[in-house]
Amino acid sequence: MDNILDGKATASYFDEEMLTRIAKLKEKDITPGLAVIMVGDNSASEIYVRNKKRRAEKLGFNFEEILLLDSISESELLSEIDKLNNRDDIDGFIVQLPLPKHINEDTIVNAVNPAKDVDGFAPYNVGKLYMNDPQQVPATAKGIMLLLEKYKIDVDGKNVVIVGRSNIVGRPVASLMLNAHATVTITHSHTKNLSEVTRQADILIVAIGRSEFITADFVKDGAVVVDVGMNRVDGKLTGDVKFDEVSPKASLITPVPGGVGPMTITGLMYQTIQIAERRANAKG
Ligand code: GUN
Repeated sequence: MDNILDGKATASYFDEEMLTRIAKLKEKDITPGLAVIMVGDNSASEIYVRNKKRRAEKLGFNFEEILLLDSISESELLSEIDKLNNRDDIDGFIVQLPLPKHINEDTIVNAVNPAKDVDGFAPYNVGKLYMNDPQQVPATAKGIMLLLEKYKIDVDGKNVVIVGRSNIVGRPVASLMLNAHATVTITHSHTKNLSEVTRQADILIVAIGRSEFITADFVKDGAVVVDVGMNRVDGKLTGDVKFDEVSPKASLITPVPGGVGPMTITGLMYQTIQIAERRANAKG
């Protein structure tokens, strides 16, 4: 088990770094402020938000959870967003997705002030990332880059193959990897001969939401494997990679749980601190 990319330990390492930065901010009377809006009951979202809250409080953030009823109208939700856009003590906020069907997610994402969009979902931030001038980027993508950085995995010139093209993971990871000079291939459900393509990967990143889909025959000997999957199967959390089979071939591999999950929260906290530092610099 010496080939584990340990997300839990790496998240603790970055917590220490962030605590130092937060202490510096507090000398200037600034506490990083993070808010999460959650609409309605969704058990998966509740777990995500609880984990974010726990980490934010451990780091000494000003953390606010804004719980809204399923029945809220789009315009009422927009006015909640407007309040956060205008609050000086909130550096960043996210609207937990998915939203109830009667609310248009694009309208909501577009209403978040890009400077406070710590999810990196607003079109401005998507564009900045695409143009190799990233501001805030989606937390999972950020967390994966921090994890690889901590393990000194140089991506420059490497073949990075990403399985999955979501806006939350696949696309932003592809942009960050391209910005870091990797040769990037994005694969998805229409890709022909998928395993032939994934076997070219020096670094394989899997984010498709299909339990244990990636088996040993998809992976080159010595590859670094990053499993973003969080699937619930018979009450058990599983990844998108069949760990027991793939692990012996991989030079390094993330487990599920304890791999990318803790680093996603790190990505969110890290970027909130960056915004708070900008507030501190503006204050002088
Ligand atoms: N739902 C699942 N993942 C995420 C995320 O990263 N951000 C938001 N806002 N909602 C999510």
